[in-house]
Amino acid sequence: MSKNQLDQKSQAWSALFSEPMSELVQRYTASVFFDKRLWQADIQGSLAHAEMLVAQGIISASDGADIERGLAQITQEISSGAFQWKLDLEDVHLNIEARLTQLVGDAGKRLHTGRSRNDQVATDVRLWLCSEIDLINQCLIDLQKALVEVAERHVEVIMPGFTHLQVAQPVSFAHHLLAYVEMFDRDAQRMSDVRKRTHWLPLGSAALAGTTYPLDRERVARSLGMIDDQGRACVCQNSLDGVSDRDFAIEFSAAASLCMVHISRLSEELVLWMSQNFGFVKISDRFTTGSSIMPQKKNPDVPELARGKTGRVVGHLMGLITLMKGQALAYNKDNQEDKEPLFDTVDTLKDTLRIFSEMIGGQVNSQTGAKEGGITVNVTAMENAAKKGYATATDLADYLVKKGLPFRDAHEVVAHAVKSAQAQGLDLSELPLSSLQQLNPAIQGDVFECLSLIGSLNARNTLGGTAPNQIRFQIARHHVRLDF
Ligand code: ARG
Repeated sequence: MSKNQLDQKSQAWSALFSEPMSELVQRYTASVFFDKRLWQADIQGSLAHAEMLVAQGIISASDGADIERGLAQITQEISSGAFQWKLDLEDVHLNIEARLTQLVGDAGKRLHTGRSRNDQVATDVRLWLCSEIDLINQCLIDLQKALVEVAERHVEVIMPGFTHLQVAQPVSFAHHLLAYVEMFDRDAQRMSDVRKRTHWLPLGSAALAGTTYPLDRERVARSLGMIDDQGRACVCQNSLDGVSDRDFAIEFSAAASLCMVHISRLSEELVLWMSQNFGFVKISDRFTTGSSIMPQKKNPDVPELARGKTGRVVGHLMGLITLMKGQALAYNKDNQEDKEPLFDTVDTLKDTLRIFSEMIGGQVNSQTGAKEGGITVNVTAMENAAKKGYATATDLADYLVKKGLPFRDAHEVVAHAVKSAQAQGLDLSELPLSSLQQLNPAIQGDVFECLSLIGSLNARNTLGGTAPNQIRFQIARHHVRLDF
């Protein structure tokens, strides 16, 4: 960096500074190379602030018009890639303000009246995050739709349900997928809830204590769309809190982490299901990779990476929450460290959700309009697996209870039945009636109905159960809820 540029930097603050920053310190303190992505929110906030300054008679209408014109040109320059971001101007805010002043002179210098970068950056991050939450929620809707569509086609496809990864009871594959729809629905609700607390205006808090100018903060909040369900302006009510807390970012990170944890569980299942030992599903080749040494391999890289990236997002949550813990009020430069983890969380989550929608539900073929390339299911492999492991043992116990046996006794009878079936290498449904009757005389010919997989499913016909009836009811509910 030239001596001239360094002088320019020391002059960015005031005449008080007698020596320039070293290049290393400048690089260490600068944030422009990552916070420049806040530029739209920064300009939006500046426009709202300037408009209010004019309305309140704090700056003249002609200054207001100059600021608007200058910011329009800057918008154009940034969008086209012509804008020159300068490291020595530290961050997005100073870069835009310096260019504005270059373009419109004194009016540009008046924009910062009654404002500090402290309330400015808090406002920018909140505005940016709200629009990202909207995108994330759209991704969550798309993913839920993809899962519901696949579920719809597999209501009567039976797989083993597991506890402890041991075969437990038969379930419908659709029921299994719809469990994830519930999780992603709650994730979207959490996002919307976080958004309500993010959508508050710090601007007007100034550096920390408020400002001596007669600002109309509610006007700014309204023009930025920061209003609640009842149409009231959402303005941070304490200036110290407004500039310094990043709890909204932490809350968002927690919601994002939970969502990634759900993705990670699904990933783990896909990895298992795709292994030769399960062979339940296949995903399109474009979500897998080969091995450089083993020609037969097709590895589930995408689900594995998603599982891995969950660690990264949870790590960012830890970073953000730790960032806050030692900070005395009000603003501290520590807060500049909120951006990279937050940006990376948003990018990782959005990409992951988009990829999963496509990997599961497929992609619309622009020619035929049909979706293709989603997950494919090996129905026979799933059913065969469900037949192993005596998945209908509980059904036999329930059958005996209905014949009048206390459940604990029924449990014991079935344990004997399983033991004898195991010894003969048979499934429970393959045992002759006579040997079942030896275990308990109450067993009749109708027992075989409940020992079949579909019989077992049909029997679980209570709300939230895996009976196809119940699943169809849930699918209909999701169609209404997701409006498709
Ligand atoms: N780049 C800074 C940040 O991200 C902007 C606020 C700087 N304020 C200050 N007083 N140094 O937090």
